[in-house]
Amino acid sequence: MSEYLDKAFSPAVLGKSLEVRNRIIKAATFEGKTPGGMPGQALHDFHRELCDGGVGMTTIGYCTTEADGRISEEMMYLGDYARPQLTSMIADLKTTGTKVSGQMTHCGNFSKNRQLQRLKRAQGPSPQFNDLGLIVGKPWADGMTEADIDYLVDTYYNAALYMKEVGFDATEIHFSHGYGLSQFISPKTNKRSDKYGGSIENRMRLPLRILEAVRKAVGDDFPIMGKMGLTDGDAVKNGLTEDDAIRVAEMLDQGGIDALITSGGTSTHNTMWMFRGEPITKAMIATQTSPLMKMLFTMVGPMKWKNYPYEELVFLDGFKRVRDAVKNSQMIYIGGCHEMDSLEKVISEGADFVQIGRALIRNPNYVNDAMAQREQFHSGCTHCNRCVATIEAPGGVHCYLREEEKAIQIQQA
Ligand SMILES: Cc1cc2nc3c(=O)[nH]c(=O)nc-3n(C[C@H](O)[C@H](O)[C@H](O)COP(=O)(O)O)c2cc1C
Repeated sequence: MSEYLDKAFSPAVLGKSLEVRNRIIKAATFEGKTPGGMPGQALHDFHRELCDGGVGMTTIGYCTTEADGRISEEMMYLGDYARPQLTSMIADLKTTGTKVSGQMTHCGNFSKNRQLQRLKRAQGPSPQFNDLGLIVGKPWADGMTEADIDYLVDTYYNAALYMKEVGFDATEIHFSHGYGLSQFISPKTNKRSDKYGGSIENRMRLPLRILEAVRKAVGDDFPIMGKMGLTDGDAVKNGLTEDDAIRVAEMLDQGGIDALITSGGTSTHNTMWMFRGEPITKAMIATQTSPLMKMLFTMVGPMKWKNYPYEELVFLDGFKRVRDAVKNSQMIYIGGCHEMDSLEKVISEGADFVQIGRALIRNPNYVNDAMAQREQFHSGCTHCNRCVATIEAPGGVHCYLREEEKAIQIQQA
């Protein structure tokens, strides 16, 4: 086994002092296992399997900082209603030796939430069409006032305090993929002419205020990771450029973030950019129950979910640029690091940790298997991307290939 694979599977410290048993982190993947917004047994079982499978740290994805930050009412927010469930779930997951992180996020103007509590409509940096809101008769998102911005910062502060209280070991702030904070960072969606819009420094003003608030809430010893975008993707005109992304990284680094995760693309405008591989149009149509949605996805699917062939290490070049630009932050690679030679490569390029999404949905025992089989191990993920479409399927996210394998095993037994 090469020295880099050895390193990948050896303990490492995240941030100032969090000891993690290896460098593999389950990426944040919203799993659709919070019916009515409640984190229950299905979510627990999903992450328990990953912990038993050896990941160094698992991430509870898409935890929003307030009820109205949810894309839909089926998502969890970091509120008192979920405190007992989260506390006992995280305590159990940690008995396995795996650390538990939570992704802190907000949908901004991208929402189909039927149960808005504080707001009449979704809000983003600037007023704009919210295509997802069409489904619930709210196709318009408002622009935020400065008071709304101050309120949002407070939600992050309170959510960060809450995360520590319920037992999370670390947090990941979502600055990418077209959601709330990324809507401020990208010139595609931020059309403001005040101090929160215009130059990249102004577009970063809110994200940096949020980083500061989260740090104030959690203290220096609690790792804060930031998932940032490298670009919005090639089909997004006037979106985030890589040069701006480098400035984003530098500013987050100077703002005291512990680690940067370099992703790309947006779920709002160009979903397949972050995944590559089979477009999800067919799978999305198949999971819809409403004939209207099936028709809509048939019409807009090919535009929305473009075909980019799968590539391992798709974000490596951008990762390296960010790595060279930052002074203090640790670096976390994400994006098609599924096979052993890729893992070896990113560790040799200075990744302190690696986040893996689909390959861990395919095989939650990935880390144990990879440690046992070494260079002979293959993830088994074909990048069919059908797991992505199961976000809204009954029971939530699962891998079809794994289900098929299980069915064959049952038949043979
Ligand atoms: C089912 C599914 C749900 C996802 N949900 C989220 C999410 O909630 N937050 C996020 O930042 N990324 C989300 N992602 C993107 C992944 O974190 C990751 O960026 C992407 O899958 C690329 O990594 P991979 O090649 O290891 O799969 C999701 C991915 C999948 C497959």
